[in-house]
Amino acid sequence: MKKTHQLAASPQGIEAAATLLRAGQQVAFPTETVYGLGGDARDADAVAGVYAAKGRPSFNPLIVHVADLAAAERIARFDDITLRLAQAFWPGPFTLVLPLAPDHGIAALVTAGLDTVAVRVPAHPVAQALLHAFGGPLAAPSANLSGTISPTTAAHVIAGLEGRIAAVVDGGPCQVGLESTIVGGTHLALLRPGGVPTTEIEALTGPLAQPDARITAPGQLASHYAPGVHVRLNATHANKDEVLLGFGPMPCDLNLSETADLTQAAARLFDALHSLDATGRNIAVAPIPDHGLGAAINDRLRRAAAPR
Ligand code: TXA
Ligand code: MG
Repeated sequence: MKKTHQLAASPQGIEAAATLLRAGQQVAFPTETVYGLGGDARDADAVAGVYAAKGRPSFNPLIVHVADLAAAERIARFDDITLRLAQAFWPGPFTLVLPLAPDHGIAALVTAGLDTVAVRVPAHPVAQALLHAFGGPLAAPSANLSGTISPTTAAHVIAGLEGRIAAVVDGGPCQVGLESTIVGGTHLALLRPGGVPTTEIEALTGPLAQPDARITAPGQLASHYAPGVHVRLNATHANKDEVLLGFGPMPCDLNLSETADLTQAAARLFDALHSLDATGRNIAVAPIPDHGLGAAINDRLRRAAAPR
């Protein structure tokens, strides 16, 4: 168990938080909606650490937080209407799901292997200061244990995550107290109601589409990257037409973690599936222990292996 530092929302506290984030650590910070649990969105290990701290049983894609529209445009592609929405509601409690830009640099674990990314520019001055001090994109789900209520004070964060994260920056209570509104997809749908009222958005866009079931159920197979080849689980060896994805010390084509480290395996999972998929051969996967992040890894693998 590590000690969770409680940092003041002072220039020193924010610099200390940015330093921890640069070192790949997980730091909770206030936004105007709820406290987020941040990790460097370009660093798969840091993002795996976010999932591990939350104890998430599955890899839902995460929201990437950036300081401004220019930073958002480096990771995502906007069209006329999404640009208009960004200009109207950023910074603020508003998230857009957009196609990834070329050379986006975002770890595949953040998007759960999708080719879209959720982006938000928070308005909270402490979130803004931290994003500027850190100087990069932060993947941040709400800073609570999976299955518990979203935190709106630093004390809530500590109650859930003490000893599981490096630090929390205390910026007082969140004003909105409700997660951001999420809009996106090919038909511009309301993916999650939240801090910005739907009517304000529809005043600019006209009626939003009904959410595509494949996108709104992020835990579902269809919303996730699914390999084009067949996936076989709990394999001890590769058959003739297969490549073997290993775990722990074993002969294989690619290893999720030679040292059987579940956080490292989570960090590598989506890149590994992509690169083995590209071989065109079927994928056999070694058994992964089902505790800790292993549960989320197995959840994802079962979806990849499900008949479709
Ligand atoms: O207010 C908020 O949005 C807070 C603060 C911390 O910013 N964050 C938050 O993150 O609520 P999280 O991880 O709890 O919720 C992220 C939501 C999930 O419902 C997820 O399915 C959706 O965003 N999402 C993320 N990327 C997506 C994508 N590429 N396509 C569809 N949905 C996506
Ligand atoms: Mg949440």
